[in-house]
Amino acid sequence: MSDDLRHALSTLHPSPVDVDPVAYGQDWTRVATPAPLAVVQPQTVQEVQSIVRWARTHRVALVPSGGRTGLSGGAVAARGELVVSMDRMRAITEFRAADQSLTVEAGVTTQEVQEAARHHGLFYPVDFASRGSSQIGGNVATNAGGIRVLRYGLTRERVLGLKIVTGTGELLDLNRGLVKNATGYDLRHLVIGSEGTLGIVVEATLRLVEAPPPQQVMMLALSGLEAIMPVFASLRRRLTLSAFEFLTDKALRHVVAAGARRPFALEAPVLVLAEFDANEDAAVAAFVDAQQAGYVVDAVVSQSDAQAAELWRVREGITESLARFTPYKNDIAVRVGDVPAFLVSADALFAREYPDWEVVWFGHIGDGNLHISILPPLGHPPSEFRHSCERVTELLGNLLAVFGGSISAEHGVGLWKKPVLHCSRPAMEIALMRGVKSLFDPDGLMNPGKIFDPATATSMS
Ligand code: LAC
Ligand code: ZN
Repeated sequence: MSDDLRHALSTLHPSPVDVDPVAYGQDWTRVATPAPLAVVQPQTVQEVQSIVRWARTHRVALVPSGGRTGLSGGAVAARGELVVSMDRMRAITEFRAADQSLTVEAGVTTQEVQEAARHHGLFYPVDFASRGSSQIGGNVATNAGGIRVLRYGLTRERVLGLKIVTGTGELLDLNRGLVKNATGYDLRHLVIGSEGTLGIVVEATLRLVEAPPPQQVMMLALSGLEAIMPVFASLRRRLTLSAFEFLTDKALRHVVAAGARRPFALEAPVLVLAEFDANEDAAVAAFVDAQQAGYVVDAVVSQSDAQAAELWRVREGITESLARFTPYKNDIAVRVGDVPAFLVSADALFAREYPDWEVVWFGHIGDGNLHISILPPLGHPPSEFRHSCERVTELLGNLLAVFGGSISAEHGVGLWKKPVLHCSRPAMEIALMRGVKSLFDPDGLMNPGKIFDPATATSMS
């Protein structure tokens, strides 16, 4: 670190905190080597503004940091950036009963929002396995999706108001909790999904929903990929679905090896999990439809919340069960109706190009979002595997371009999807995004190098 930078750091308010810079410089991808300049943990909006102004004066790049559970490198600080952690901005500031809204600071976790909603007799439906550590600021910055998008939509649909500190240190109070507001461009929606490149989210006002009736979970073992969509159609006709997820037998094998209970004795190539407003008769009717069509190998329906949670563990435990292999991961979307054709094409591509690789599919199939993990072949050096996977990303990107799909459904672009952004977003759109960024962040200090930004060197060190 240069003397100038050391001196500049000594003038930073609030002062950097003594936490593990490695932990705060990386997300769950664990690919880049973290190397932040320092970590700072503001407690107030004014402190966030003062950090941004300091960063402008000293030309130091900032990486906003929430729960760092991301899977695209969006929260990685590997080039001497100052990490702005929201861990100390954890207040739930307001509940408005008439608006059914909850206002929270950025560092409140997804689970704390869910619990606060429940405390007020309402429901916050955005949900995913990392709920206990992911923070609302990061959920907004990545437009987090998860398991109930099918019924309730993405984080975007929940945000009624947003406060952000831009790259110039200005505080924007966007939409102020209004349901209707027809006054021109809705800047709130530019910030949602911007991955910290426009500014730092400091507060969000979230729209809650009425608590749903008791839920039941059904897991079906199916004859093959071709069965997924017809079964989805039968369940949808009979039941009010909150989630429709899938996993393959390979994913099941890993999650069971990691401790989940095997839901069926019988083997089947594909499993689907449906969550729905509890209705025993309708569930049986839906199951009979699917069975008569010859799709169902086995089935189980939860009879208690504990059983429902156990079935969810099978689905939600997949990512963690694969983590020890440091797999290649992708998170893609196609239109729901294109899912079967896409899966067939992608499987054919992998069988042709990489016959020896273990390809594991799972995901939120009811909204067209598929997760793919590829495990390195035994003995394959990790760096070589990563290199081979760059080609996988390219091939998948090209296939998705044919389908008009997306190379990131819900995990964001971050660092790792940047090379294939062009497969999903035309050059004109990327140019417009660049233009928007330059207005919010004229000095290019907010999470540089992410989404489309070619920036590499990020601090004056
Ligand atoms: C999941 C994460 C990977 O759905 O998004 O499990
Ligand atoms: Zn997911």
